[in-house]
Amino acid sequence: MNVPTKVEVIEVGMRDGLQMESDFVDTGTKIALINGLMDAGVRHIEATSFVSPRAVPQLADAADVLAGAHRPSGSRFAVLAPNLKGVERAIEAGADEIVVFVSASESHNRKNLNRSIDRSLDDISNIAAQVQHADIKKKGAIACAFGCPFEGDIELSALMRIVGHFHAVGFRALTLGDTTGMATPALVEHTVAAIRDDYPDMRLTLHFHNTRGIGLANVMTGLNAGIDSYESSIGGLGGCPFAPGASGNICTEDLVYLLNEMGIETGIDLDKLIAVATRMEAVLGRTLPGQVMKSGPRLRLHEYEDAACATG
Ligand code: COA
Ligand code: ZN
Repeated sequence: MNVPTKVEVIEVGMRDGLQMESDFVDTGTKIALINGLMDAGVRHIEATSFVSPRAVPQLADAADVLAGAHRPSGSRFAVLAPNLKGVERAIEAGADEIVVFVSASESHNRKNLNRSIDRSLDDISNIAAQVQHADIKKKGAIACAFGCPFEGDIELSALMRIVGHFHAVGFRALTLGDTTGMATPALVEHTVAAIRDDYPDMRLTLHFHNTRGIGLANVMTGLNAGIDSYESSIGGLGGCPFAPGASGNICTEDLVYLLNEMGIETGIDLDKLIAVATRMEAVLGRTLPGQVMKSGPRLRLHEYEDAACATG
């Protein structure tokens, strides 16, 4: 076991979560939620995306969200950018990091980005050249890295071709996205080991969805492999509008609870995080999938006198 002692939790609910909501959450509310996350100690957040507002109208206010949010020193505000136009908008809005993405599956890439994987790889080369001298970090992300809702299993060689492309054009940080919750512990172990062998200097982040209830089991596999960076959504929001069957990310409070109980440092205050999740529930007007936000940590005790008693 080489479980890390410290883990970076990247909050993606404001992007992966809100892109999936049917109603537009107003800009002021988004900013207040982000400020709450910062107050809870979150320091790396995917705050929004600079994609086509016609494709994802829920995030059409991306620049205003970045301009209005409190950004404490040491925080990193990442944004999704699908093309050069997105990158230009992200730089202009003062994002700290762009996340440039492509799907490992041809059919999902066409649904999500309206182009072939090859064309997306060309776009990625152009983006890398464009930001070479810009004051912005860059990270790659591969959607459907562990399986595709249209094509099923993804060949490891197909995934490795994309990883190799990101590496060749200068990316040293990469998220493996499990867009529709198809990852399993065995698949995670195998995939992480293959990338580590060929690209040992590529920093990996794992991004799981809890679609089939084994998101945190996949995290455990990642931790045992020494991976120290995970993406999750407040309250367990999340999903891709262009991938059938997509549901919530692993939940940030549940993840932080697990890491706390393992003695792994995150810098995040669980109680404050739960308060933000509760606020998110109120904003969206429905119950969210997160579990620790409902039960509290394991030592939240109940009043003995208040509990029912099974008498005769
Ligand atoms: N930001 C804002 N507008 C953009 C944009 C961006 N990053 N990229 C393209 N547009 C605009 C263009 O200016 C053009 O506008 P116009 O019709 O008013 O001239 C229009 O969108 C179409 O541009 P085009 O380059 O032909 O894009 P497309 O229709 O082929 O769509 C993407 C390609 C990548 C822009 C679109 O598929 C997209 O935004 N996908 C993201 C999906 C997503 O966020 N998925 C969830 C995350 S996994
Ligand atoms: Zn996702």
